[in-house]
Amino acid sequence: MRKWITAAVLGLMCVGGAANAQGEGAAGIVQGRQAGMMLSSVAMGAIKASIDAQQAPSTQRFNSRALARWARAVPGLFPAGSGAEAGVPTHAKPEIWSDRAGFEARAADYAAAADRLAELAAGDDAAAFAAQWTVVRASCQACHTPYKAE
Ligand code: HEC
Repeated sequence: MRKWITAAVLGLMCVGGAANAQGEGAAGIVQGRQAGMMLSSVAMGAIKASIDAQQAPSTQRFNSRALARWARAVPGLFPAGSGAEAGVPTHAKPEIWSDRAGFEARAADYAAAADRLAELAAGDDAAAFAAQWTVVRASCQACHTPYKAE
């Protein structure tokens, strides 16, 4: 598990180019998850632009699958010790650890919504795909409101 998390974080660092001298241990995990969150926003924006341009859902298969995989990685990127005590700026609220079950439930909702989006991207129902994008977007907000500081 630990090795897997490290690999995920290193992968994100490469993609995000965010590695710096602080990018180790808990600080590295914080920076990796922040980069991943930003990249998930990029994927969401690309999918929305494609929906607005009335492109086929199949053009968004890669973005949707990336989002679904990322969603499943989210809980593991918030281990104990990766809050303010990690020593780098973070918007993660202490409630992530004091109400772990609630946080994991929001992450599971997100993963289920993103999985469904990826399924729909493999088909050709553009209306269902667009509606599911909105469901995914709502699942981001449902976690940010209780667990992410402004
Ligand atoms: C299960 C909870 C959860 C879900 C679901 C979630 N986020 Fe986040 N997000 C967080 C937390 C907590 C932070 C703050 C992380 C930190 O600063 O260490 C965050 C941070 C962010 C940031 C700011 C990153 C930065 O450092 O500037 C963006 C952008 C973001 N999320 C986008 C999204 C998008 C888009 C989705 C849905 C597609 C999403 N998030 C889903 C919990 C979540």
